[in-house]
Amino acid sequence: MKRRDFIIKSALAGAAFSTYQLFPFGGVRKVNGVGNPLRFPPELQQGESLIFNASNVEVWPGTTTQVLSLNNSYPCPTIRVQKGQNFSVLFKNQFTEEATIHWHGLLVPELMDGQPKDAVLPGNSYTYTFPIFQKAGTYFYHSHAHHLTAKHVYKGYAGFFIVEDDNELQYGLPTSNYDIPLLIQDRHSAYQPQFTYAPTMMDRMTGYLGDVPLVNGTPEAYFEVQKTLYRFRLLNGSNARIYKIAFSDNSPFWVISTDGGLKDEPSQMNNLYLAPGERVDILFDFFPYTIGNSLTLQSQTFTVVGNQGLQMDLLRFDVVGNLSSGGIVPQNLSAINYHNINDIQRTRNFVLSQSGMGSGMHRINGLTYDMNRIDEQIPFSELEEWKFVNTTNNFHPMHVHGVMFQVYSRNGNTNLQPNDKGWKDTVLVNPNETVSVLVKCNDYSGIYLLHCHNLEHEDDGMMLNIKFDSPTNIEEENTQPETFELYPNYPNPFNPSTNIKYSLDKPSSSVKLSIFNNNGELVENIFEGTQSSGVFSVEWNAANYSSGNYFCSLLVDGLLKSIKLSYIK
Ligand code: C2O
Ligand code: CU
Ligand code: CU
Repeated sequence: MKRRDFIIKSALAGAAFSTYQLFPFGGVRKVNGVGNPLRFPPELQQGESLIFNASNVEVWPGTTTQVLSLNNSYPCPTIRVQKGQNFSVLFKNQFTEEATIHWHGLLVPELMDGQPKDAVLPGNSYTYTFPIFQKAGTYFYHSHAHHLTAKHVYKGYAGFFIVEDDNELQYGLPTSNYDIPLLIQDRHSAYQPQFTYAPTMMDRMTGYLGDVPLVNGTPEAYFEVQKTLYRFRLLNGSNARIYKIAFSDNSPFWVISTDGGLKDEPSQMNNLYLAPGERVDILFDFFPYTIGNSLTLQSQTFTVVGNQGLQMDLLRFDVVGNLSSGGIVPQNLSAINYHNINDIQRTRNFVLSQSGMGSGMHRINGLTYDMNRIDEQIPFSELEEWKFVNTTNNFHPMHVHGVMFQVYSRNGNTNLQPNDKGWKDTVLVNPNETVSVLVKCNDYSGIYLLHCHNLEHEDDGMMLNIKFDSPTNIEEENTQPETFELYPNYPNPFNPSTNIKYSLDKPSSSVKLSIFNNNGELVENIFEGTQSSGVFSVEWNAANYSSGNYFCSLLVDGLLKSIKLSYIK
């Protein structure tokens, strides 16, 4: 109670006065009763399949919209999983075009990543299965078929993938009815009530920008709230539109989570830019508002480049009651290990360019996507700086599969906004801006994608294949280990056995090699004893264990190294 009072006060400290001064000018209005109640897609049930097909749904009351979607639901069903689970779902393509499910932001094996090269053909099915080992957060899934991503997503094929874990529970954040996912999209009023995907040449250049916002597929959406603290999970699932998110009275909100889960601390902001593919979770307290009033989540106007920057009302909040969510704004959230720039081993440049008006006008390093070409080989476990150099007058939200990165600087400036800090998989690169991010591939090896998440740009070929290497031949590696090395296993993921290699360079060391499960419990001791210097290789067979993540730890004279092993049956 005391703590809560304190937190509310501090939440309002900076802007409380301006909030109230703005009251009479229309930032906060009387409830007017128009609009449609905010919708929520169903949650995917355990064992349920995901079926891709066309269907008719009601988006605008009294009319039907033909959508391309999963399980006849627009937005697609929300998937909710617990960290440590093995997620598995049967995908059935019952439509006439190839499709995939890409799990945006989730670290999954290459063949589970739903890339264009791994399309599921009409009439076929595919089981996507992978362990969930990353931290709780708001993730995203959508189609990623070759040249069809933009159309599929525009027509409805996108949904939430929410990961929960025990760590998050300790912070006392608002939950259940007070934890609200908001998928923000825009559609063209000219084609209403259809989601007609008909980009002109100009649209292919700027992106297909609609003028009508939908939140969770709801036009003119409103949501009834209590005078209490809420968590909103904002996901920009638009093809190309960037939103400048703010409340209509410019009240501050707390940013608690970025693409890759909780930040290290809540940060107050009055507005933020949310680009396609990005997520941000915010806390907002309706306590200061009066029952019967309403305020609106908006996209505020900003410098208009290629039709971006339109002011839009996204979602109206009607304050209707006094219930309490019991949630708090914690002082601190989970610690983040920020990469150290002194550890950077190399810099890669990705030059974003645009030329002409034909297909292939959007390029990265002069290239357009070729699914059979590997564009970058990236060594495992080495810190790299990637520079996105935007030479165009357009926005490019750059997204990377298979890894979470950290934003380091914008045009050399390391003083970043709070929503740039934390784990990210998509970063907005503004016109003519250079954005530096720090990347270390630590999870799966294999082929992944780097692309612009403006989906018109992506389908036009603004995408590269990147390959995260896993050393299979350690003799070629650095021959001067400190005293011992433990190498990434191969294969990774594996079934049912994998190879673990390590090297020792002291004449005699006491060695213990063990396997732990995701909860840190000992599964098996593989070796214990004294070994002389040399390179050792051990096979570990997991056939008797369940699918999921394991950790192999090597203890040499009291020093520990460990690597992650992902076993997928
Ligand atoms: Cu959300 Cu490769 O994309
Ligand atoms: Cu992705
Ligand atoms: Cu782009």
